[in-house]
Amino acid sequence: MIIGDDSNLMEYKMQYVLIAFAVLLFIALTFFVISHFEKSRLTCPVYQVSDPRVPEAFTGKRIVFLSDLHSCTFGSENQKLYEAIDNAKPDLVLIGGDMMVVKSWSQKDFAVTRDLLAFLNGRYPVYYAPGNHEQRMKEKPDEYPEWFTTFRELLTEFDVPYLENETLALKLDSEGNIRPADEAEEDDMILLSGLALDMHYYKKLLLHRKARFSAEDLQKLLPKVDDKKHFHIVLAHNPLYVPVYAASYASLFLCGHMHGGCVRLPLIGATISPQLELFPRYAKGYKMASDTHVIVSAGLGTHSINLRVNNPPELVIIDLKRN
Ligand SMILES: [Fe+2]
Repeated sequence: MIIGDDSNLMEYKMQYVLIAFAVLLFIALTFFVISHFEKSRLTCPVYQVSDPRVPEAFTGKRIVFLSDLHSCTFGSENQKLYEAIDNAKPDLVLIGGDMMVVKSWSQKDFAVTRDLLAFLNGRYPVYYAPGNHEQRMKEKPDEYPEWFTTFRELLTEFDVPYLENETLALKLDSEGNIRPADEAEEDDMILLSGLALDMHYYKKLLLHRKARFSAEDLQKLLPKVDDKKHFHIVLAHNPLYVPVYAASYASLFLCGHMHGGCVRLPLIGATISPQLELFPRYAKGYKMASDTHVIVSAGLGTHSINLRVNNPPELVIIDLKRN
């Protein structure tokens, strides 16, 4: 009697385990199928950034912001991405890092980045700031010999300024095109910076504590964040430090890195970032804090966590307006 009861109990338990396994497998397969289609569904969210520091001349100027392409392509030879950029009719193209994959398991392959820079060259003014993948090949030349040199040669070939903790002044020429300015040309200029954080700030957060990054650290890397007068755009790949960015005097921070949180669930939102932060707070979208605008792109591609669910790739469009 007792032996029979035990075997029935075991059977019931096995049934529950099998049902749970089947449900998990179904969810995983559903995510995989959704993700397969979602990864090629390029979206172009448009944000209007209205700010009293935008010079009158820059009202109506449009920025296209690319981040986290990770050598992915849209359509044959990336034509869909190029069309989306052209359709946006940008006055300025900003690249926020992670255009390629730099991992111990990846090949040195900059073909997609090269083709993108070749496409943009001569069409639009382009500026590039590092993500963690560019930073990794710079900091680890033994693991990635000649990678960073080859990358910098590409930027030189296509005349793209690389902003590593550097600030440029931009203004409009007589034809209304955006060009570098002398900082002496104070009126009607904006500032553009690229923040380069070292790999210490990109440690996996399931294994390491979040590295401390303070307002003083930001100010040391980019002294111009104390400028209160000019509209100042900062390409800051990692939005982990949005509260620090928002406390500065810079006007607009453009971030990526989070891939939108990979899988976005209803009510919960972002679930995990490539830096293995669970439920990342700043994974995509627009935020206004004090006088600072922050836009986090969900990015264009994926790599290690190859999933996008409820989280399509984004080519971010920003329209500037003086108010
Ligand atoms: Fe990144």
